[in-house]
Amino acid sequence: MLSKLRKSCSAMLSGLALLVAGTAGCGSPAAAQPASGAIAVNVHGRDSGAIIDRNIFGQFAEHLGTGIYGGVWVGEDSPIPNVRGIRTDVVQALRALHVPNVRWPGGCFADEYHWRNGIGPRPQRSSTINTNWGGVNESNHFGTHEFFDFVDQIGSDAYVSINVGSGSVHEASDWLEYMTADGSSALGRERIANGRREPFRVNLLGIGNEAWGCGGSMRPEYYVDQLKMYARFVHNYNRAQQGDAAMRRIAVGADGSGDNAYTEAVMSAWKNKVWSWDIEGLSLHYYTIGGWPARYDSVNFGPREYAELVVQTRRLEGLVAANAAIMDRYDPARHVGLFVDEWGVWLAPLPRTNPGFLQQQNSLRDAIIAALDINIFARHADRVRGANIAQMANVLQSMVMTDGPRMLLTPTYHIFRMYVPFQGAHLVPVTLDAGTFHVGDIELPRVDALAARDSNGVLWLALTNLDPDRAAQLNVAIDGVSVRSGTGETLTAPRINAINSFEAADAVRPQPMTAQGQGGRLNLSLPSKSVTVLRLTEARN
Ligand code: AHR
Repeated sequence: MLSKLRKSCSAMLSGLALLVAGTAGCGSPAAAQPASGAIAVNVHGRDSGAIIDRNIFGQFAEHLGTGIYGGVWVGEDSPIPNVRGIRTDVVQALRALHVPNVRWPGGCFADEYHWRNGIGPRPQRSSTINTNWGGVNESNHFGTHEFFDFVDQIGSDAYVSINVGSGSVHEASDWLEYMTADGSSALGRERIANGRREPFRVNLLGIGNEAWGCGGSMRPEYYVDQLKMYARFVHNYNRAQQGDAAMRRIAVGADGSGDNAYTEAVMSAWKNKVWSWDIEGLSLHYYTIGGWPARYDSVNFGPREYAELVVQTRRLEGLVAANAAIMDRYDPARHVGLFVDEWGVWLAPLPRTNPGFLQQQNSLRDAIIAALDINIFARHADRVRGANIAQMANVLQSMVMTDGPRMLLTPTYHIFRMYVPFQGAHLVPVTLDAGTFHVGDIELPRVDALAARDSNGVLWLALTNLDPDRAAQLNVAIDGVSVRSGTGETLTAPRINAINSFEAADAVRPQPMTAQGQGGRLNLSLPSKSVTVLRLTEARN
């Protein structure tokens, strides 16, 4: 042990550590003290919390603007490289994110989607009008089979939202039978005739979308009556989906305004339910939007706008806690999970774009906000079982942006990639007193942190420096463990509004970060406006 400690001291003295700050002495972990002025971060590495459900890293792909057409689907005859019409560059980019599930076909679009328009030979499919999003033509060339091909190509699960607003129990029940029955049913045989022998796996089923708004403006009581019927009669027939693999049904929940009437109504009905229906999830939608219509610019903004949107983002913590508390009252055993199946930054549409296409740029600010949101979901891992960022490609806070054959990765994409080790890991409590900084009269914490231990026992630490102007010196200790090093990546840029454009696609990208242990702790400097994810190596006795 002693010789290992000496080794880490000499590594420190030889200056191997990048971005290492502070002067903590080389002694036992207990004797080491934070460098003066450094923020002490304590990782309670012996305590293991709930599993961070990998589904909180879910994506959302709606038939909206170029989210599907152009962003995913280019058609088999396109000069853009594709596999069966699905663009290869986007698939490759998404595979690196280990996307756990993709929610489709909406959104508001889902409540006007009639699945029969999207099956069979593509030239014969009926075209329809996308009334929600710009009134444009919907070719229906991307339908059920194309969606499942896409999730297979990226290695993800399917989260299908059924039409409650303008559909029927009958229509939804037929769709599920078409997707999941074997050849003993006429609808199963129709799917087989359309080219897919094995039943599809529908892992998550959304029973309506925003039933309090675009999904039908239903009173909570009316929605609950609908929910009971859909939950009763919409069956998944896939024999492979048994036990833990069984499809989970997600009811519409709160709208993010603080009005939790849907949460109350659905959970109270669930507590008093009879045998004939059940749900496994309840949704919550929350956008960082700053008023309606969305007015915050995605590129031209300063510290004030940044701080205002961070304040808005941080409200999600209270909303999740409030919804979880209501759910705890009706469901203390936590059978029903909370699914924040729409979240993200919703900004003003880019100039000269169709406002119905919800196209915005994606800056370092948005990446920082994504990290803060993910940290909130993970901290509530005992109740939050899923989340879907809006949206995957070209719409709102997207992972990728495309322009004809070109594709770029957004700063938010990099956060999702850096956070992959947190998928399915055990939450580890972290305590820190970060102090605050001010932008005018707005006070914000300097640093946010998340820690988790993965299935191999490796500890991971995510650190966000919210301050757009000042680096933060940190002194990280893990209970009872001597830290040898932290290695990983940092995402930052010279300006908070830095973006990736087709002209400079790599302007915001992660850089390697290493910090060596000193006296069993890590001293490191987080650049201003940055997100860092480190793998911690513990010194063994
Ligand atoms: O993500 C865009 C839209 O926002 C979705 O269609 C809808 O559910 C929400 O209001």
